[in-house]
Amino acid sequence: MGEKMRLDKLVASQLYDVSRADVKKLCLKKKISVNGKLMARSDAKVDTDDEIIVDGRKIEYKKHIYIMLNKPAGVVCSTKEGDSMTVLDLVPDDLMREGLFPAGRLDKDTEGFVLLTDDGALSHTMLSPKSHVQKTYFVRLEKPWQPDYENIFASGMTIRPERAGAESEKCLPAQFIGSNENDCECTVKICEGKYHQIKRMFAEIGNKVVYLKRVAIGEMPLDGDLQPGECLEILHKDVENLLAVKR
Ligand code: URA
Repeated sequence: MGEKMRLDKLVASQLYDVSRADVKKLCLKKKISVNGKLMARSDAKVDTDDEIIVDGRKIEYKKHIYIMLNKPAGVVCSTKEGDSMTVLDLVPDDLMREGLFPAGRLDKDTEGFVLLTDDGALSHTMLSPKSHVQKTYFVRLEKPWQPDYENIFASGMTIRPERAGAESEKCLPAQFIGSNENDCECTVKICEGKYHQIKRMFAEIGNKVVYLKRVAIGEMPLDGDLQPGECLEILHKDVENLLAVKR
């Protein structure tokens, strides 16, 4: 047994292009069936496990949706429409949901893994430094990395204010792994998401980030087959594993 819910609420929550008012109209047109029975009323109580067919489309009920996006540079992590393209503009219609938002932001020029969801509680857990969910970044630097970076990052750096009038910020210990193949490339793992954090950490030690890509969240790597701008639905159980939280 699933959860009991009004038919119009259930359908509108699962199909982005169908409103509650549309459900009413579709019922009148005899276009909605539940377990093989045509529904006359949109306010009827149904079960989330019922077989619901809306104008030929079968509903696969999911309480929440989780999407892995490979964000390209030039796209903003925002839900508000502005001059730039947003991460929501990249979501295909079949994955679009009311209330979808990016769980954590990447800068406009940063590429890589953005988790899009309508699950506020999970997003909160993922973003809280207390949960220790590591975010892994591939970094290309302007100048070669130095052997002391590992200790500096591990000790928990203090970084200068992000703007005039703001305070310096103390970072949690982070992991720095220099590439053996290219002395301007490295991997950094952090458990928090201060504004421009990685760029500010390197600026603090006299270097500059010239390219940044998030390659993993927790134990989940960005799918190597996912092209920039593409989305992939991920299962709830995989997201729970990623966070290693029992809810
Ligand atoms: N750190 C940054 O500086 N920018 C990002 O987009 C993510 C982490």
